[in-house]
Amino acid sequence: MYLPETVLTNKDIEAFCDTTDEWIRQRTGIEERHKVTPGEGTSDLALRASRMAIKNAGIALDDLDAVICCTVSPDQILPASANLLHGKLGLRDIASFDINAACSGFMAGLMTGNALIKSGVYKTILLVGAEIQTNRMTWKNRDTAVLFGDGAGAVILQASENGYGVLTTHLGSDGSNYEVLHLPLGGSREPFTKENLDEDAYTIYMKGPELFKRAVIKFVEVSQEALDAVGLTMDDIDLFVPHQANARIIEAAGQRMGIAPEKVVMNIQKTGNTTAASIPIALHEAVQEGRVKEGDHILMASFGAGLTWGAAIVRW
Ligand SMILES: CC(C)(COP(=O)(O)OP(=O)(O)OC[C@H]1O[C@@H](n2cnc3c(N)ncnc32)[C@H](O)[C@@H]1OP(=O)(O)O)[C@@H](O)C(=O)NCCC(=O)NCCS
Repeated sequence: MYLPETVLTNKDIEAFCDTTDEWIRQRTGIEERHKVTPGEGTSDLALRASRMAIKNAGIALDDLDAVICCTVSPDQILPASANLLHGKLGLRDIASFDINAACSGFMAGLMTGNALIKSGVYKTILLVGAEIQTNRMTWKNRDTAVLFGDGAGAVILQASENGYGVLTTHLGSDGSNYEVLHLPLGGSREPFTKENLDEDAYTIYMKGPELFKRAVIKFVEVSQEALDAVGLTMDDIDLFVPHQANARIIEAAGQRMGIAPEKVVMNIQKTGNTTAASIPIALHEAVQEGRVKEGDHILMASFGAGLTWGAAIVRW
């Protein structure tokens, strides 16, 4: 994983945004988030995390057959950040492409990568979640600006012995409610113009409380779907690695799922919501902290813009 060096605390934000450290901590659990320096792009963050993943997995660059980058904040509109990452890593002419499934991006990437390996198309895949959100926040929109952070997390996917690895992956979406969380400006329907390029127009719109309720419900539903698919119960789960959108969402979902708090990975205090990067960052930290043992069942789950949701169970 990689988090940019610059840390932006809630107190720092108080200086230029109509908010307070107390409000952010109480309503979201966030204390600080990391922020890129000007000129840094999503593929730069992805590169740092990828190099670490390649080293930790003990593979050579030439072993890679494909690069999948999950992001909603690509370096440029065209081409994909996975292409830039491919170039920066100096890879041979293998496939590289982005997946945009917002906060469920890593779950979508894991489903895609897993299917490609299981079907024999590829042997080794670099899967990255990488986002830069802080430099496109309108600090006048305190509803969303305080929530997000920058970062990247990466994994290497390869086939494993039967009974280990990715046991099941699940995704769902509800496009009819996309307006609950969206960034309308700058796409094909509403391109940038001189007129709309003022600070207030370019912002993420979010119906926070509605999103909150839906997130808790879907976290529980999709996690249960994953458990049912492999005949496990919540008691079999050793670690729950949820997308980090709000500490209260994670706590509420965890309670409804009946999972012990000590089995839940929460790092949102230090990272904020890093969208598609949040699950691989949290997973990496859990591994580094010795919270993952061989044979453990790890449940991951996400919910976000789209609306999208997903879950996966991995036997480590
Ligand atoms: C965004 C969120 C933290 C807001 O928390 P909430 O408890 O639902 O708060 P509300 O939106 O009801 O706002 C409560 C009050 O705080 C105010 N407020 C909102 N943002 C604020 C901020 N950054 N600082 C201070 N006050 C703020 C509101 O204006 C409102 O004031 P009012 O009562 O005078 O009208 C919460 O709804 C949430 O986390 N939702 C899901 C977000 C999410 O998952 N996003 C990403 C998807 S991956």
